[in-house]
Amino acid sequence: MDVVEEIIGYMKTFKTDLGYFVDRENEIEKIINKIPYGRVSVIMGPRGCGKSTIAYTLVNALKKVSGYSGFYLAYREEEGISKSLLRVSNISIESLRELLRDRLEEIAGTLVKVSGLIDLMDLVIGLVKRRILREREIIVFIDEFHGEFNEVRQTLEVDANVVKWLHDMGYRVKTTYLTSDATASWLQLKLGSKIDWYLLWNLSRDSFMEIYSMVCRGHCIDYGLSWRLIGGNPRELYVLTIRYNWSLREYIGEKIAFIKRVVKGYMRESRARLEDVLSQLKAINASIDDSSIYPIYDYLIRNNVLMDVDMRFKKLSQLSREQWIGDEVAYQIPVYYWIVESMVKHHTLDIEAKHVIEEIE
Ligand SMILES: Nc1ncnc2c1ncn2[C@@H]1O[C@H](COP(=O)(O)OP(=O)(O)OP(=O)(O)O)[C@@H](O)[C@H]1O
Ligand SMILES: [Mg+2]
Repeated sequence: MDVVEEIIGYMKTFKTDLGYFVDRENEIEKIINKIPYGRVSVIMGPRGCGKSTIAYTLVNALKKVSGYSGFYLAYREEEGISKSLLRVSNISIESLRELLRDRLEEIAGTLVKVSGLIDLMDLVIGLVKRRILREREIIVFIDEFHGEFNEVRQTLEVDANVVKWLHDMGYRVKTTYLTSDATASWLQLKLGSKIDWYLLWNLSRDSFMEIYSMVCRGHCIDYGLSWRLIGGNPRELYVLTIRYNWSLREYIGEKIAFIKRVVKGYMRESRARLEDVLSQLKAINASIDDSSIYPIYDYLIRNNVLMDVDMRFKKLSQLSREQWIGDEVAYQIPVYYWIVESMVKHHTLDIEAKHVIEEIE
């Protein structure tokens, strides 16, 4: 059996919040075989599309595969620790270094959570200098990193140099940062080809159907409707089913409130009138790939309503053909598209969930 198949086999046995791990064969194959060693890459993808899950599930699976070592590092969030991170063992950066020195073999492949700024250079050098890792393929994921634009840019640049240096010395290391922040595409413009940029998307229609039926248990709303609302995003499915117990009114209501806040924020910042904003939104929905010519576009990117999906980002996932996904720009989740449609049609920001459903149907 080839190594990718073996890894995928292990990953499929892991549990997730929605049942078991589905899909992602293409993505995993590309992460293992196509993302190059000796370089730093960034994987960008909509909020909740499953980036962290792929990363730590993969790292877990690599424990069982010979010739590979995986590391998953996530910054500690002081408040509101995300659910997925609770599964990550709690190790401080100091004890991590300690472990690296003393018991490296044992922790290779464990999930590690660090606090404070990761001194990645130290970490990776310490890691690969150990003979044990010399003959291995080392995959490092760095998740939940935040920081001011220039700080993040600098960290990525330094890491790119370190990983390249290690590669020149004969070590096989790749470092991958994960982010759902759509402003990462502005970072891409600054860093260009020093870093490789990838896009991970929501689940395919078939796989979404699979997890949909796992959580259904007799409560299902119309599947087509939920696809047009959620578009394969597993986090959103979790929110609709578990948090809102399938209440479309509450789920869509929350999203309307969010879009309203974003639009009002833009109106305040740019002193734009409602009339003007609605006509920009109308034009964006009519031709999403031309979004960037409208002043509101930057604001929608900054607030993770829209995301750049153009050629700069190599596709790990296949993006489905839908109204809310263009070749250059896409809505992070489709319900935003329908809310905008409805606001434009009713000529007001004060719409209700039923208007959005009417729009979809
Ligand atoms: N392949 C999958 N199969 C089944 N469930 C999944 C899969 N991927 C993710 N999930 C579920 O979807 C939810 C969101 O996943 P995850 O936290 O990995 O997303 P994310 O892209 O890292 O989000 P964020 O942008 O907030 O960091 C979780 O509840 C997770 O269990
Ligand atoms: Mg995540």
